[in-house]
Amino acid sequence: MPQISPSILSADFARLGEEAEAVRGCDWLHVDVMDNHFVPNLTLGLPVVESLRKATDIPIDCHLMIEQPDRWAPQYAEAGAGSVTFHVEAAAAPVRLAREIRSLGARASMALKPATPIEPYEDLLPELDMLLVMTVEPGFGGQSFLDIMLPKIRRTRELINRHGLQLWLQVDGGVSVETIERCAEAGADVFVAGSAVYGADDPAAAVRGLRELAAA
Ligand code: DX5
Ligand code: ZN
Repeated sequence: MPQISPSILSADFARLGEEAEAVRGCDWLHVDVMDNHFVPNLTLGLPVVESLRKATDIPIDCHLMIEQPDRWAPQYAEAGAGSVTFHVEAAAAPVRLAREIRSLGARASMALKPATPIEPYEDLLPELDMLLVMTVEPGFGGQSFLDIMLPKIRRTRELINRHGLQLWLQVDGGVSVETIERCAEAGADVFVAGSAVYGADDPAAAVRGLRELAAA
């Protein structure tokens, strides 16, 4: 079954608790942490994740777009995130970091920016519970889906299958009713959507609609 992870980047930050309730029925709540160094934007950090954890029982899918994830990612696992994604471009020791995240009880996930190939990381896949293939340059919601990432999604799915692994393949950026079927067809099974969910009149209905398209 495809999973939908609405990105609260497109939600009203002053009403995060209610905005989480507005997408009830989703599988995860995608929380974009940006530090204005790894990406040219600044969002939120640990205290907000801790508060959100108390405000909702929807599992939190933390996407860390920050420098020094080796230092910070374990703290997001300790704060109660069910899944913690770090960027391989920023990680000093991705294997050690993935093991540490898992040891703290969270799912370990690694993200690739559009220009980062999957092939050098083939041997790391068994250390991960999810791989995130970015389908926009990270930093902002509302950008256009990069079609040129479809071959990478396909190659990543082939690698996962060839190794007989169970890890999930997430896509993030420009995922909408227009693009989700192409992502699913290429092999993605976890779909982040910000503007396509929170920009809709009925965010919970948008989640259901996206899931139906991805499952078709
Ligand atoms: C972008 C973030 C995404 C963003 C997606 O760097 O990682 O999670 O919120 O937003 P949409 O779905 O609007 O492209
Ligand atoms: Zn994200």
